[in-house]
Amino acid sequence: MSRPVYGRAWQRAESYLTHEMKNLGLSVQRDAVGNLYGELPGSRPDLLPIWTGSHIDSVPHGGCYDGVAGILAGMEAARLLRAGGKAYPRTLSVNVYAGEEMSRFGVCCIGSRALSGKLCEESLTSSVDPDTGETLREAMEHAGVEVERYADDFARRPKVYASLELHIEQGDRLEQAGIPIGIVTGICAPTNFYVDVYGTQGHAGGVPMDSRRDACMAACEIGLALEQLARTSKGEYLTATVGSMETFPGTPSVIPGRVRLSVDIRAIREQDKAKLADDFRRVAEEIAMRRGVRVVFREPSDDLPVHCDDRLRRLLAAKAAELDYPSMPLISGPYHDSLFLHAFSPVAMLFVPSKGGISHDRREDTSLEDIAKGTDVLAYALDVLLSRTGE
Ligand code: GLV
Ligand code: MN
Ligand code: MN
Repeated sequence: MSRPVYGRAWQRAESYLTHEMKNLGLSVQRDAVGNLYGELPGSRPDLLPIWTGSHIDSVPHGGCYDGVAGILAGMEAARLLRAGGKAYPRTLSVNVYAGEEMSRFGVCCIGSRALSGKLCEESLTSSVDPDTGETLREAMEHAGVEVERYADDFARRPKVYASLELHIEQGDRLEQAGIPIGIVTGICAPTNFYVDVYGTQGHAGGVPMDSRRDACMAACEIGLALEQLARTSKGEYLTATVGSMETFPGTPSVIPGRVRLSVDIRAIREQDKAKLADDFRRVAEEIAMRRGVRVVFREPSDDLPVHCDDRLRRLLAAKAAELDYPSMPLISGPYHDSLFLHAFSPVAMLFVPSKGGISHDRREDTSLEDIAKGTDVLAYALDVLLSRTGE
């Protein structure tokens, strides 16, 4: 599955979901970054709505369940609740958040970040897809998204009573424990930046080994040093990844003069990420000095981990127990749209098992039976929240 945000496949998926949501009796709206809202209106418009949903964009060569499972579960829950015939006071909105993956523009959670007020309008022109050269704003325009309404749509944060997101686990703890439902306690957030390593370009046959300033070999050593720092760190749920490494000019007969590494650091505690990032910078500078190359750290972005709402977590756990589905608490290493929805709503997430723990890979898989169990828990919890009339 390769469905980059605002691309053709993404546009077709949004059209398809709009159509299916309308078939379910939801009224569908789209905002200025392409988030979709499928609403089942409640009888009391004065009460804050309940949101559920996730994303449909994917990483290149990713799987079919990451994000999509949460949207289809939300739509199925809406169908079940409607079929139940109860008149709910609160409105339910099944949402599709645009661009959760950072793979196309280097910025994650475009849609939910815009809602949270943390996507400044300038980044629409400063973020560029390196493959097509389009800016984020141009890609939105080409996808028919009405980005000219950006300032109006995101002048204020929305007001939401509660937000629930179902997602595949993307790890193997549920499978290992033989438990179908994970109740997420906290979500790790990424710190991202690029490291540009500048050496001296040269002829692969002409420059002797002892007089090279090879940007690629320095970049390799810098990447290995990051791995070593992360392995020995005491940080909880701490991970560090070099996801891409581009060499320039990138051909077998040339010693690269420049290499660009992407760095992704995550942890459940902000201070653990900050410490690793500081240690890494220091070590990278030392390696560069020893090898006679130069390093420049670029485009830093840093998001904060969040803790899920205790009351919503207890509600999800109680509903799983009522349905006789075993559940367990989990921390999420991957980030999710809920990380940003947290800025204006209490959030909770439930996970369903990923076979073999595999995700961000075409082999990603979750049984329909497990998705159905997660959907039951979601629908039962939504039934309670939609009925509440108190604060
Ligand atoms: C989201 O897909 C992530 O990379 O955690
Ligand atoms: Mn993903
Ligand atoms: Mn996802």
